[in-house]
Amino acid sequence: MTRTLLPSLAEHLTTFGERHGIKTEFSAEGIPENLPAELEAVVYHIAQEALTNVVRHARAHRVQVALGMEAGMLRVEIDDDGIGLPAGGVQAGTGLASIREQARALGGRLTLGSGPGARLRVLLPCRAGGPAERSGRRDVDAAAGRSPPLRLVRGATALARAPLSS
Ligand SMILES: Nc1ncnc2c1ncn2[C@@H]1O[C@H](COP(=O)(O)OP(=O)(O)O)[C@@H](O)[C@H]1O
Ligand SMILES: [Mg+2]
Repeated sequence: MTRTLLPSLAEHLTTFGERHGIKTEFSAEGIPENLPAELEAVVYHIAQEALTNVVRHARAHRVQVALGMEAGMLRVEIDDDGIGLPAGGVQAGTGLASIREQARALGGRLTLGSGPGARLRVLLPCRAGGPAERSGRRDVDAAAGRSPPLRLVRGATALARAPLSS
């Protein structure tokens, strides 16, 4: 990924902010290189849907997209400073449903938080090491002349059945 996903996301966010007059922040910490293309595509899709929701529903002035690692999972977080999720509970439409389904297909989960603003968080399994492990792998891979394989963990039904809101 990281050579394509991170710059793509950053660019998307910048364009988004300019177009809608919303201040944007992007951060990515400890993301492994060479993530599977399928995982990259899902991360990008999640960010797009979440940002669409920010424009449509949040009345936000600021949005933050943060990627990180948490217990071996890739964490995708989109936070805004808008009005927050509906007090009576979220009626998932196609946007949140597709995020949830895509996360679930990879054995991940979606959680939503509110107050102040809205927070969408998705955890996606990805076998990845920290920076130290990564640099070790790079040496091996340089010798092998190819990228390290990263395994997608599927079928984590307990996670997949997690509720839409937390
Ligand atoms: N960032 C947000 N701020 C406030 N409400 C939100 C936000 N994102 C989603 N929502 C709420 O969640 C609902 C479902 O979103 P979604 O599934 O994308 O469907 P849609 O955008 O078509 O309404 C929205 O109708 C809205 O009430
Ligand atoms: Mg939507």
